[in-house]
Amino acid sequence: MASTWWPCLVLALLFSEAASGFSRSPLRLLGKRSLPGGAADGIEVYSTKISCKVTSRFAHNVVTTKAVNNADKAKEISFDVELPKTAFITNFTLTIDGVTYPGNVKEKEVAKKQYEKAVSQGKTAGLVKASGRKLEKFTVSVNVAAGSNVTFELTYEELLKRHQGKYEMFLKVQPKQLIKHFEIEAHIFEPQGISTLDAEASFITNDLLGSALTKSFSGKKGHVSFKPSLDQQRSCPTCSDSLLNGDFTITYDVNRESPANVQVVNGYFVHFFAPQGLPVVPKNVVFVIDVSGSMAGRKIQQTRDALLKILDDVKETDHLNFILFSGGVTTWKDQLVQATPENLQEARTFVKNIRDDGMTNLNDGLLRGIHMLNKAREENLVPERSTSIVIMLTDGDANAGESNPERIQENVRNAIKGKFPLYNLGFGNNLNFNFLETMGLENHGFARRIYEDSDADLQLQGFYDEVANPLLTDVEMEYPQNAILDLTQNSYQHFYDGSEIVVAGRLADENINSFKADVKGQGAFNDLTFTEEVDVKEMEEALKEQDYIFGNYLERLWAYLTIEQLLEKRKNAQGEEKENLTAQALDLSLKYHFVTPLTSMVVTKPEDNEDQTAIADKPGEVAISAIPSRAYFIDGDPHFIIQVPEKNDALCFNIDEDPGTVLRLIQDPVTGLTVNGQIIGDKRDSTATNNRKTFFGKLGITNTQMDFRMEVTTEKITLWNGDEPSTFSWLDTATVTQDGISVTINRKKNMVISFGDGVTFVVVLHQVWKKFPGHYDFLGFYVVDSHRMSAQTHGLLGQFFHPFDFKVSDIHPGSDPTKPDATMVVKNHRLTVTRGSQKDYRKDASVGMKVACWFVHNNGEGLIDGIHTDYIVPNLF
Ligand SMILES: *[C@@H]1O[C@H](CO)[C@@H](O)[C@H](O)[C@H]1NC(C)=O
Ligand SMILES: *[C@@H]1O[C@H](CO)[C@@H](O)[C@H](O)[C@H]1NC(C)=O
Ligand SMILES: *[C@@H]1O[C@H](CO)[C@@H](O)[C@H](O)[C@H]1NC(C)=O
Repeated sequence: MASTWWPCLVLALLFSEAASGFSRSPLRLLGKRSLPGGAADGIEVYSTKISCKVTSRFAHNVVTTKAVNNADKAKEISFDVELPKTAFITNFTLTIDGVTYPGNVKEKEVAKKQYEKAVSQGKTAGLVKASGRKLEKFTVSVNVAAGSNVTFELTYEELLKRHQGKYEMFLKVQPKQLIKHFEIEAHIFEPQGISTLDAEASFITNDLLGSALTKSFSGKKGHVSFKPSLDQQRSCPTCSDSLLNGDFTITYDVNRESPANVQVVNGYFVHFFAPQGLPVVPKNVVFVIDVSGSMAGRKIQQTRDALLKILDDVKETDHLNFILFSGGVTTWKDQLVQATPENLQEARTFVKNIRDDGMTNLNDGLLRGIHMLNKAREENLVPERSTSIVIMLTDGDANAGESNPERIQENVRNAIKGKFPLYNLGFGNNLNFNFLETMGLENHGFARRIYEDSDADLQLQGFYDEVANPLLTDVEMEYPQNAILDLTQNSYQHFYDGSEIVVAGRLADENINSFKADVKGQGAFNDLTFTEEVDVKEMEEALKEQDYIFGNYLERLWAYLTIEQLLEKRKNAQGEEKENLTAQALDLSLKYHFVTPLTSMVVTKPEDNEDQTAIADKPGEVAISAIPSRAYFIDGDPHFIIQVPEKNDALCFNIDEDPGTVLRLIQDPVTGLTVNGQIIGDKRDSTATNNRKTFFGKLGITNTQMDFRMEVTTEKITLWNGDEPSTFSWLDTATVTQDGISVTINRKKNMVISFGDGVTFVVVLHQVWKKFPGHYDFLGFYVVDSHRMSAQTHGLLGQFFHPFDFKVSDIHPGSDPTKPDATMVVKNHRLTVTRGSQKDYRKDASVGMKVACWFVHNNGEGLIDGIHTDYIVPNLF
């Protein structure tokens, strides 16, 4: 490697000086600002078109935006699209002054360090959260020379799933300025015929949309067009800002004269199954509800409200019970009882009196519920033709009883033995959703997030409605042996009213004339078989006539469904099986050009395959939990937090010192790494030490072995290679790599610093409004990977990188009634600690994620080695 410090500078998500191609070594990025509300700075977005083609539930969407830079200098133009989390991006191209930069789907760089990925995906996940429950954000920014044109074109595809009787397509509309040509156009083609079609915009009533919105359907075709003129886009007749800001939703359903529909095109087939009008199979439902202390307030109120509404919908043939868990487990009844009017009345009284308290013993709560269902079946307390389900709601991680997630999973698996599904509802963000998801999938169910919001009760109720009406159980889709290959999942424990089962596959012999598809299931009163005879030739002829159908939609539908199911299976797989599933999913993703969690989209400069920039990665819930669970960090009024995943718990303490003091956070004599932090005060003149607030304003990171030094302040980042300084601003987005050290600056948010494979830090920038009276801008410091640091590592954080143990006992009320005290034994000291919580801002610097911890008083006395003043050093380096 060259001795100068930047042999390679990768620009994340943007190109510099795009008009002249890709700049090779831009040490400093151009001054950039994000696109403001209007065209005032010379950038005019003159056209945005969203074009959707849906064929047999498979949606192919193309978003095209055209802009011109009318200013007299180069400007940054951003392209933001929010797309459904379930969609896969399939193409992206950028055209600048007629030169097209195509996108290609490539395998994700496997060498990319796990944590780096986790951090960057975590960051993307922050965007996901910001952009709503069902959508995730795709952003590209490009610098465009004065007078130049740019066209962005993004394509994504998804299989629309039927929920509560309809297919829904969400399009987020947020142009930020008036656009001369703005258009949404959707063409829908459904061989079964369309029965209903609607389109709505959340930002305006349909009356006001007037002539801008048209929707129609007839036979197999549906059409929606939304084309507001400039005047119709104005938020008021004289305004120059746009009222287009919100969701545009298209919903439809198809005719259901026949319970099933099979389509065959070019050797691929799809089988849709959604019978209507069957009687509902009686259910035995156990609600396992978290009533721990963290549910207090609105969450428990919303849970009570939702359960009361659900009780109104329970059918008399159903059986039910409530299991409440906190530190212990309580139940409404000792066993399942029938939903008679008297019992329901009693249940309402019980629900109204649900109170929160204590810890989270999820294991015992779940096992009690499962055991009760098993027992009800064994003792014939429930009808023979009935189906059982467990619905578990929690808002946090287990911290009482068995709290090891793997052992809880094992216990639950062994108790359910595949006999009925488990649905896990995760309330809010302070929980390990991955654990809930894995456990749901392992037990024929799934996990759903309930967002902490004013409509949480409706979300809970909505989930219940989806599973409230099982029409069939043990559903098997059967095809002639040897006739069908590469079948997607074809057995389902339930068919719920309002949903649809979709199975796709390949014909072994494309010249086959006909085949038979059987669906077998158990209904409320009898076993049912639905048979569908498919005349392949006739079908192909009928479908081919339609000019609506885009090319190989059925093959892509099959590929989409197969990849989706492989990825899901992969979540629960291990070892060789996981490798196989990964290889298959990757193969298909590459073959069909899908951006999945295993692939990235890279944009390539024409005729230059080396110069490419990754622009699209698939984030998602899995990515969030990929962040190593063991973490140490400092944030806020410097709060030191040590997360101890083995215990599902965390410790925290404060250091109170004068502004200007430098503290040693990490020092490792073996790897040569040192991290020091300097304290700053707040804006109030507070010479009084009690209640004063201090923060970290400056960090010094040194690696003597690599002759590397870095100073991070709230304004800039300076790196030294030897004596040569280079300065970056927090306004840059850049990655600098050399000899295994990598520094990524994420504009105004955070930076990720990695030393080889095994040491990664994240620095979070907290910015406040200039006139904010409280404090100045400050920094948070996170150790997300430390496994390569030596056993000799020390410092205020570093000393905790080694295994250490603590025991908490005698939890009792403290001086603050909401924060219990306890006795902690750690490092041979007996301390009185207080329950508190701190925030983890890795994902989002404005909305932290709460971390509950035991607070050690008096500058961490007894927890840290020695006393805190031992860690004071004269300067940053
Ligand atoms: C991607 O889109 C561009 C522009 O529309 C098109 O030329 C290209 O063929 C597409 N690539 C794929 C793989 O569909
Ligand atoms: C940019 O596009 C506009 C509209 O299509 C066209 O009039 C103009 O000539 C283009 N400018 C350049 C530099 O290509
Ligand atoms: C993985 O794939 C290989 C080759 O196809 C096969 O021999 C092996 O049995 C598979 N392993 C598992 C666990 O599925």
